[in-house]
Amino acid sequence: MALLHATCQTGGVSDQETPKAPENRSTTPISEAFRDFISTGWGDVPSEPATPLPQAPFAAARRERLSEEFSGLTLVIPAGETKTRSNDTDYPYRPHTAFVYLTGWGADTVPGSILLGIPQDTGHHWVLFTRPPAPRTSDEFYANPAIGEFWTGRRPGLADVATWLGLETRDRADWSNEMPLLANCALIRESDSALAEMIDALRHDDDQSVDDTLARVISEMRLVKDAWEIGELTAAVEATHRGFDRIIASLPEASAHPRGERIIEGVFHQAARLEGNDTGYGTIAASGPHACILHWVTNDGPVKPGDLVLVDAGIELDSLYTADITRTIPVSGSFSPLQRQIYEAVLDAADQAFAVVKPGALFRDIHDTAMRVIAGYVHEWGFLPVELEESLAKEGQHHRRYMIHGTSHHLGLDVHDCAKARREMYMDKELEPGMVFTIEPGLYFQPDDHTVPPDWRGIGVRIEDNIVVTETGGRNLSQNIPRTPDEVENWVRGTLPSLH
Ligand code: GLY
Ligand code: MN
Ligand code: MN
Repeated sequence: MALLHATCQTGGVSDQETPKAPENRSTTPISEAFRDFISTGWGDVPSEPATPLPQAPFAAARRERLSEEFSGLTLVIPAGETKTRSNDTDYPYRPHTAFVYLTGWGADTVPGSILLGIPQDTGHHWVLFTRPPAPRTSDEFYANPAIGEFWTGRRPGLADVATWLGLETRDRADWSNEMPLLANCALIRESDSALAEMIDALRHDDDQSVDDTLARVISEMRLVKDAWEIGELTAAVEATHRGFDRIIASLPEASAHPRGERIIEGVFHQAARLEGNDTGYGTIAASGPHACILHWVTNDGPVKPGDLVLVDAGIELDSLYTADITRTIPVSGSFSPLQRQIYEAVLDAADQAFAVVKPGALFRDIHDTAMRVIAGYVHEWGFLPVELEESLAKEGQHHRRYMIHGTSHHLGLDVHDCAKARREMYMDKELEPGMVFTIEPGLYFQPDDHTVPPDWRGIGVRIEDNIVVTETGGRNLSQNIPRTPDEVENWVRGTLPSLH
C-alpha cells in the first residue's frame, strides 16, 4: 500500500496528496513490517450513543427557508478547511458561520465538511459531506498530521453526525461524484477559496453574482434570531458575566504587573476556554489612555490605580454564538468625580438609546438617539466649536470627534453579525422581535486632544450591552453585569451582593 495516497477530493488538504510529517524531521516508520503491524490489532472504540442535537430542527427550518429562495439551483455551503498559520501549523479551526447556521454543527465540526443542497422538483435535498474516521488499514490515521486521528483526535462516524444534525451524511471522499451538480450552483465562496476555484472551472456561467446573493440572503435570514439562538446568546452573556467577575478578581494582580492588561486578557481567555469555545473576538483590555484606542488589542500596558480600565470582551460558546460586552472599571474601586461625570454621560446615552428599542422603531434611531445625548453633553461641556443644532446636522457632526464609532451592530454567530445584509435590511430597517444587537456608546478624549482641558485627556469610557427585541420593547441581556457607577464600584470593592 502506498504511503501517500492521492485522493480525488477537492479543496484544502484533500486536493493534494495526503500530507505527512515534514520530510526533514519525519520519523514515521516506512517499513512493511511496521505498516503490517500498525494496521492490525485494533478493537471498536466505545462511544456514547448519538442523540439529536436540540438545534437540529431549527437548522432544518433555516434550510427550508433558504431553499425557497434558490429553487432549481445547487447550493454549496462549505465549512472550510483549516487555515495555515505557518508551515504545518494551523490557526485554531472555526467553521464558516453560514455552515454553522444551516447545520447547527458548532465547535466540533470536522474541517472540510460541506453542506450540499441538491435541487428537487420542490425544494432541496440536503446532504452533509464529512470525513469519517479513517480505517485502520489506511495510513491516514498515523501518517497524516493534518487530519490523522493519532494527531488531531477521533472524528465522529457518518451515522453519529447524521443523528446529531438530522441530515443525510456521506463520505467527503465521495464528494467528487457530485461534480455534475456544480455546473449550476450558488456557493459560499469565502470559506474555501480552493474549492471555489475548482467550482468556478465547472460552472456553465462565470457570473459569480449568485454567490453574493446567497451570502446576502443567509446574512439577512440571520437578522432575526430564533428561540434557540436567543437561548444561546443569553447563555453567552451569562458566561461573559462570569468572565468579567474573574477579571474583577484579577485586578490586584493586574495592577501589580507591568503588563497588567495581559493579565486581564489572559484571565478572560481562560474563562472563555473553560465555558465555551473561545473569545468571540480579540479581547480589548485598555487601561488609562489606551481606552481611547477603540480596538486596542495589544494589551501590553500597565493597569494603574486611579485609572479606568475599559474591557471589551465576549465569550463564544461551543455553539459559536458570542456575547460582546464592554465595561469601564475604576481600577482602585472608586471613580474620580471627573471619571464619574463622563461615565454618567455615556450611561445616559446608553439608557436613552435603549428606551427607543421596540418593534417598528428603526435600527438607526438607536444610534441617532445616543448621538443626540452625547452631542448634548460635549456641547454643555463647551467642547464644540458650533451650536448643538449645527453639530447635529448632517453637514456638521463635530461631536463625533469624541465618539467616532457606531452605537449598534447585530450580534450572533459573528460579533459583527449579518455583515452581508443590505443597508435597507440593517441600518434603515425596522426592529423586529428576535433581533439581537449591541448598544455601545462611548466618549473618548484622546491624550493629545487640545479641545478638552488637560485633566480630561486620556479618559475613555464605553458601556456595551447586548439587547434582544421583544414583542413590546427590548430586553437587556447584560443588565445584570454591573453598569451603574455605584454597582461598578461595589463590584471592584467586592461588596456587590452575589448574582450567581
Ligand atoms: N468588540 C467590538 C465591538 O464592540 O464592536
Ligand atoms: Mn460591539
Ligand atoms: Mn465590543
